Amino acid sequence: MITILGIESSCDDTAAAVIRDEVLLSNIISSQKVHESYGGVVPELASRAHQQNIIPVVDEALKKAGVTKDEITAIAFTRGPGLMGSLLVGTSFAKGLAAALDIPMMDINHLQAHVLAHFIKEDKEDTNQPSFPFLCLLVSGGNSQIIVVKSHKEMEIIGQTIDDAAGEAFDKCAKVMGLGYPGGPIVNKLANQGNPDRFKFNKPHIAGYDYSFSGLKTSFLYFLRDELKNDPGFIEKNKEDLCASLQKTIIDILMDKLRKAAKDLNIKEVAVAGGVSANSGLRDAFEDHSKKYGWKIHIPKFGYTTDNAAMVAISGYYKYQDNEFCEMDAAPFARVTV
Ligand code: KG4
Repeated sequence: MITILGIESSCDDTAAAVIRDEVLLSNIISSQKVHESYGGVVPELASRAHQQNIIPVVDEALKKAGVTKDEITAIAFTRGPGLMGSLLVGTSFAKGLAAALDIPMMDINHLQAHVLAHFIKEDKEDTNQPSFPFLCLLVSGGNSQIIVVKSHKEMEIIGQTIDDAAGEAFDKCAKVMGLGYPGGPIVNKLANQGNPDRFKFNKPHIAGYDYSFSGLKTSFLYFLRDELKNDPGFIEKNKEDLCASLQKTIIDILMDKLRKAAKDLNIKEVAVAGGVSANSGLRDAFEDHSKKYGWKIHIPKFGYTTDNAAMVAISGYYKYQDNEFCEMDAAPFARVTV
């Protein structure tokens, strides 16, 4: 029986989860509210909040799982990428607990963990995991990548953003419209009531499977600036249609490249991961592609789209099986790729 405690603290969510033999026993997340009034995550405040939250969150995860500290086989923690101060809290905590319990640790790449979230089993009978190789569109606030997933460990990035990430495009455009933070979910909600074909925004022309979203942000900004000169109430009157058109453009950009990759590589099993995978328009686009192109699609449950420790624990489980442990001097990385 292998019992893994997963710890995630890469950004503004303090999370802990327990997995026993691939099956999730508990998944606790404490999201930090302190950043809302700043319109973005404040790194210093994030690391302080992690320090306050980490012990109660781990305690709750163990309690909910019905597992004592002595029953933990090994600890998996997010080593990077993320905010350095935030990562340091989870990393140091994991080291302290592993040393105290005299058990091994596995260092986990946060981006790979998002991909491996598709392998979390909520019960033993859950067999809906992707088979290899599959494509994964990883879309979050910091990354937009197309990954060929060859095994639990072997992942090849074949395309990525050369500037902003898809989540950043949602958040920055939402900011321009004076909507709250994070903008993605707010844009999504308003878009549900709007006309996606009302406004047209520029799409980038980038070779291969790479993405670019900074041009869209600029064209959106200039468009609004011009319209506001004629009508200062333009955003308020049109916010649903603006959000729907913006969301459609972002999704079209994402799906165009993903479709190209799937066709070129002849891979029909396609997954989506990361915070932006909560977007209902993107989920609908996946469903449409499944019907139209015969894709077998994998869309994560909402709880596994944003940062969580269940994905860290399952990643640790695979590393544990191959005896891939890390040493006490493992330092966090602010920037790494899959
Ligand atoms: O993966 P994630 O939780 O965190 C990191 O990037 O580390 O992703 C957060 C991103 C934010 O940009 C947020 O606006 C976006 O995911 N997001 C959404 C939705 N929910 C979260 N974007 C569009 N539609 C959503 N429903």
